[in-house]
Amino acid sequence: MDYYRGRRLRQNCVIRDFCRETKPLGREELIMPYFVVETDDRNYRKEIPSMPGQYQLSLAQLEKMVAKDIENGLMTTLLFGLPTRKDEQATSAWEENGIVQQAVRMLKKLWPDLLVITDVCLCEYMSHGHCGVLSADGAILNDQTLPLLAKTAVSHAQAGADIVAPSDMMDGRVAAIRKALDAAGYINVPIMSYAAKYASSFYGPFRDAAESAPACGDRKSYQMDYGNAREALLEVKADLAEAADMLIVKPAGAYGDIIKLARENTLVPICAYQVSGEYSMIKAAGINGWINEQATMLESLVGMKRAGADSIITYFTSEILAKKLAR
Ligand code: PBG
Repeated sequence: MDYYRGRRLRQNCVIRDFCRETKPLGREELIMPYFVVETDDRNYRKEIPSMPGQYQLSLAQLEKMVAKDIENGLMTTLLFGLPTRKDEQATSAWEENGIVQQAVRMLKKLWPDLLVITDVCLCEYMSHGHCGVLSADGAILNDQTLPLLAKTAVSHAQAGADIVAPSDMMDGRVAAIRKALDAAGYINVPIMSYAAKYASSFYGPFRDAAESAPACGDRKSYQMDYGNAREALLEVKADLAEAADMLIVKPAGAYGDIIKLARENTLVPICAYQVSGEYSMIKAAGINGWINEQATMLESLVGMKRAGADSIITYFTSEILAKKLAR
């Protein structure tokens, strides 16, 4: 036989398992995002209509969900906050008793070993929903935003966050945050930067979940154009030069090439973010019976690992753990 017989190594599941290049998901690779709401109603638990199975949670309900997830093996979480008050300086993003700060304190007290990552951004806390300070003529002011981001990151670290993850896409924010963290004594708090974050329609459901849609305009003056790959490498290199410890590529599904590019050109851990719209599409098709939801979900996530991701932020994390689909 003088031709290639690839089927020899596919003939049964034992040999397929033996030869598989990308191993199944491990629980240490999965990061579960939660949306925590500032509210007096301890029972507040509202399903996000565009993200079936995902909830806005009061602190008490967050505790319940995390307790269950930890029982199932959860190791890492990413927190988003929904404040009661929004203004034009994103005050509730960085105040000591902000909702994320409260959530971090609660989680770290209950579960010191849980790795708590906080999303550092201002959009959920700004009355206009943009990720930076807005000028009178509608421009996003980069350098005026940096001190607010730095204060936010420091307040998260003060509350006990293990890792801060800036997702705003302002230039120079990693350096500003690093400097502020170091000055406040948090030299050991790593920065996981959303280095390559694209202006994406896949974020649609998240903006319902976090009530953070921009009131006017869009995010294209700060998030990246999806036609660009080389530019992602510029962003990655800039963040590393500013001392980012880890990188996030976001979204993930349509951006396997970007994950690979970052993997091949850097040495730091890379995280892929399977964003809200990616989750919702798989869910919706699954609910309708149009695809096998579980199989599609696993395929989508292993694809991100195959592209080079070391970890994955996915809203499927709880479900994967509950169904024992991770190693
Ligand atoms: C905050 C932020 C967003 C997401 C994560 N952090 C929204 C946005 O940039 O509009 C999106 C996450 C998702 O869609 O799951 N800036």
